[in-house]
Amino acid sequence: MGKLKSSRLLEKIDFSYFPRHVAIIMDGNGRWAERRGLPRNFGHQAGIKTVRRIIEAAVELKLPVITLYAFSVDNWLRPMREIKYLMKLLEKYIARDLKKLKKENVFLKVIGDITKFSPSTQKLIKSAIAELEGNTGLKLVLALNYGSRAEIVKAARKLSNLVAGKKMASKDIDEEKFSRFLETDTLSDPDLLIRTSGEKRLSNFLLWQVSYAELYFTDKLWPDFNRRDFLEAIIDFQKRKRRYGGL
Ligand code: FPP
Repeated sequence: MGKLKSSRLLEKIDFSYFPRHVAIIMDGNGRWAERRGLPRNFGHQAGIKTVRRIIEAAVELKLPVITLYAFSVDNWLRPMREIKYLMKLLEKYIARDLKKLKKENVFLKVIGDITKFSPSTQKLIKSAIAELEGNTGLKLVLALNYGSRAEIVKAARKLSNLVAGKKMASKDIDEEKFSRFLETDTLSDPDLLIRTSGEKRLSNFLLWQVSYAELYFTDKLWPDFNRRDFLEAIIDFQKRKRRYGGL
């Protein structure tokens, strides 16, 4: 199993009880750089290397879905210089890794409102989605200009329009139907949510979808998060008993 083969941790993994969807809040790039006396952008650059290795690991582990919180609706509050750098990194990542993602049978989905991105960034993202369209392996979901509350409001608006147009009866709106109107539509909900850097918040990420997810917080900063840490998070998940409110 590729780069994970040598890890003793692999033996501890129960492949019969594996998460189907792991969502990650990649946090701590800025602090990683600041601790080294470097500009914050160096942290984001190092963060891309982690993105690459965690996607590789997810492919090797045959994880069905991984969602990465790459840019939140609140990230616009950062200095324009940093925002531009993040966009450039995203573009570079797609341009550099697209071939490899295609070969590894990765499917790409974006959640969030990318219409606020520059036309060239949007074009690149759309062409990557099209290029990977037929792929049946790992579903890589990138949350870009994503905010969970905005997503829920948008779903409510779509449903209320249908009700107002008499295309749906309000009594027919249930949790299942509501889920279909979220951007994650038919994706299974995350079983495991990981946040790096010691912060213990959800930060407007998949609020509806993580209702029953196991939460895993690690002090490791995102650029330091490695394959072993990823395996440890999965092993920790496997030790927990999920009762969904039952006994
Ligand atoms: C959090 O660190 C990280 C981000 C806001 C951006 C994450 C983006 C990337 C790793 C690059 C783009 C992603 C892809 C998928 C190509 P922070 O800056 O909030 O760190 P801090 O809390 O220490 O300041």
